[in-house]
Amino acid sequence: MVAADKIAAAAGGPEGNDGQPYIRVNSVWKVFGRNPERVLEPQYADHDKTFFQSEFGNVIGLQDVSFDVARGETFVIMGLSGSGKSTMVRCLIRLIEPTAGEIVIAGEEITGMTDKELIEFRRNKIAMVFQHYGLMPHRNVIENAGWGLEVQGVKKPERDARTREVLALVGLAGWEDSYPRQLSGGMQQRVGLARALAVDTDILLMDEPFSGLDPLIRRQMQDELLRLQTELHKTIVFITHDLNEALKLGDRIAIMHDGKVAQIGSPEDIVLRPEDEYVGDFTQDVRLETILTATKVMVHPKATVMGHQGPRAALHTIGDSDGDAAWVVDMAQHYIGLLSIANAERALRAGVKRLDEAWDYVDREYLAVAPTTSFDQLIPMAMTSDYPIPITDAQNILIGEVHRSALAEAIAETSNADQDYAANVAANEALAADAAAS
Ligand SMILES: Nc1ncnc2c1ncn2[C@@H]1O[C@H](COP(=O)(O)OP(=O)(O)O)[C@@H](O)[C@H]1O
Ligand SMILES: [Mg+2]
Repeated sequence: MVAADKIAAAAGGPEGNDGQPYIRVNSVWKVFGRNPERVLEPQYADHDKTFFQSEFGNVIGLQDVSFDVARGETFVIMGLSGSGKSTMVRCLIRLIEPTAGEIVIAGEEITGMTDKELIEFRRNKIAMVFQHYGLMPHRNVIENAGWGLEVQGVKKPERDARTREVLALVGLAGWEDSYPRQLSGGMQQRVGLARALAVDTDILLMDEPFSGLDPLIRRQMQDELLRLQTELHKTIVFITHDLNEALKLGDRIAIMHDGKVAQIGSPEDIVLRPEDEYVGDFTQDVRLETILTATKVMVHPKATVMGHQGPRAALHTIGDSDGDAAWVVDMAQHYIGLLSIANAERALRAGVKRLDEAWDYVDREYLAVAPTTSFDQLIPMAMTSDYPIPITDAQNILIGEVHRSALAEAIAETSNADQDYAANVAANEALAADAAAS
């Protein structure tokens, strides 16, 4: 199915994974109006948007925009209305023509393609989801969701089979024969999402897909997208004017302001290390607990035992770790549950030889969470448990643990982050250099 293919492709497909960004946008400009090129002439280099508008009647949509997106990344473009977000995403695949600059996607230079190449490329590589779902009213759900496949020439039996699978993935199993008018806004957007996922392209472009939805439905759709992305590993360019949505969904975020990129960084960079006053003002009310995640504070698991081991070995391991419990894992390090010191002692007294023959002593309801879990979710967990929180990856492999004390320390430390913008630029560059060197 879809997910397995994707993982195989990500592991070393014909393109990507060679260290090159999957999408590269290099100094892209978009100037609306007549003679757009003159805006780029050197004598006007110091003039701004207002000048061109009043003097020439040209609107500057994008001004020297550059960014890279890695394969499998969710890259969010965030900015107020009119900041150039839609213009950027449309220029990306030349739904409107950039005035200048270069765009390379999956190793192919979009800006150099003929119309024919471009149409072929879009059809096979790109799927789009918009705010207005663009569903066709006279077509039912399965026909709407299968539309992209129909355009690709996929025959009806195969098309319907694949579309059904994707509709189930987005929670619409059973609605195949309904018509758009019979669905709520949230459900219509799920159909839009299904239509984009059905064509199974590597790249998903989403222009404010959830902006028209009620807050509750909107949060559900965000969670849905996060869940889907852990399975599908698409390269997503997601546009929003909502900072919280950007922080929740983005691996990295580009903040746009007046057609320019104000800052690009991780959610944490954007909130803790704003590089100018504009970004600083934007993010000043964000609560730290929403952007800090387990990744920041998790440490290596201190005590693990395997199911085939017994309570005596477990007590030994726990003793060496100075904790009160051990994580029980299988041979491949898949997380199974928590064994407290008290239960290990009880098991020993009961003569248990192997933990996997006496699961009652292991708390298998003690749930692990992903490294992307925010402090907002971790704090209540930490407050209601005497033990650390286990962290597992998408394959359920135990990769770390989070201690209550570390949460408190991280909050204290980061609330002192300063708003010295020049220092923040320098700090970000140093971090980027470290990351590149490691
Ligand atoms: N076809 C057009 N002609 C002239 N100006 C346009 C056109 N499309 C967009 N613009 C202008 O470009 C700027 C960016 O618009 P847009 O990319 O739609 O912003 P966003 O998606 O961030 O709300 C705005 O000032 C808008 O008025
Ligand atoms: Mg827009």
